Amino acid sequence: MRDDHEDGVLHSPARRRLLGASTALLFALSSARIWAGGRPSPLDRWARELAELNDRLARGAMPATEWQDAIERLDRSVAVSDLVAYLDIDRLVHAFRYPTRLADVADPVLPPHVLPPGGRHRWFVRVFGLRRHGAIIPHVHNRMASAHLVVSGEFHVRTHDRVRDLVDAVVLRPSIDRSFARGDVLSMSEARDNQHWLHALRDRSLTFDVGVVDVAPMRDFRLPANDNHMIFVDAGAKLQPDGLVVAPVMDFESCAARYAGT
Ligand SMILES: [Fe+2]
Repeated sequence: MRDDHEDGVLHSPARRRLLGASTALLFALSSARIWAGGRPSPLDRWARELAELNDRLARGAMPATEWQDAIERLDRSVAVSDLVAYLDIDRLVHAFRYPTRLADVADPVLPPHVLPPGGRHRWFVRVFGLRRHGAIIPHVHNRMASAHLVVSGEFHVRTHDRVRDLVDAVVLRPSIDRSFARGDVLSMSEARDNQHWLHALRDRSLTFDVGVVDVAPMRDFRLPANDNHMIFVDAGAKLQPDGLVVAPVMDFESCAARYAGT
């Protein structure tokens, strides 16, 4: 059921660098394609709606900001405990060892009967796990939309709207800066909250993510992204008098050292 694009996301060199010591774990879990147990049927409605929304965004049949609102509503409409059981998240993350302050990652599997006839195209679901003081390091995305539901632990979430690109930096306007606990959900697209940075405040802080890639461009952004549609930025740079942040582009290693170093 995996499409070529997702393979690109998982197996690119940049991805391997991002995952660091967690890479072997990721591949082990992903290749196992662990099936969820239980699957209470009311969650099938949630999964079908998720697939429909993602398909509409991928086809250009829905504006990304509308998708963001709809996905956030959808994720809030189900009990986190039911969603965790449906996707078998506790079992998926049991093997997480949190060897670094970067994320451990595993891919839950949606049952085939909730997917459209052609299967899943240009979107994915994924669980990220972090130990206390681990981080999803600050980055922006090109032509992508995603939503992140906290299913365990707590995060300090900082997001920015991406105002414009410079030659070697992005200009950001602060949007969200607060803690997110279990049940809270954030989302992003080129149009809203494009920069995201999540700092785990507790051990076993987990998000359930959905991402749609190759979304039609919403802004005239010029900076190229890596194979994962990501550009790492120094979002913690000083706020300017005009209320904006000029965040220099960083390579992965520099960004990881600054925001997820030991
Ligand atoms: Fe992201």
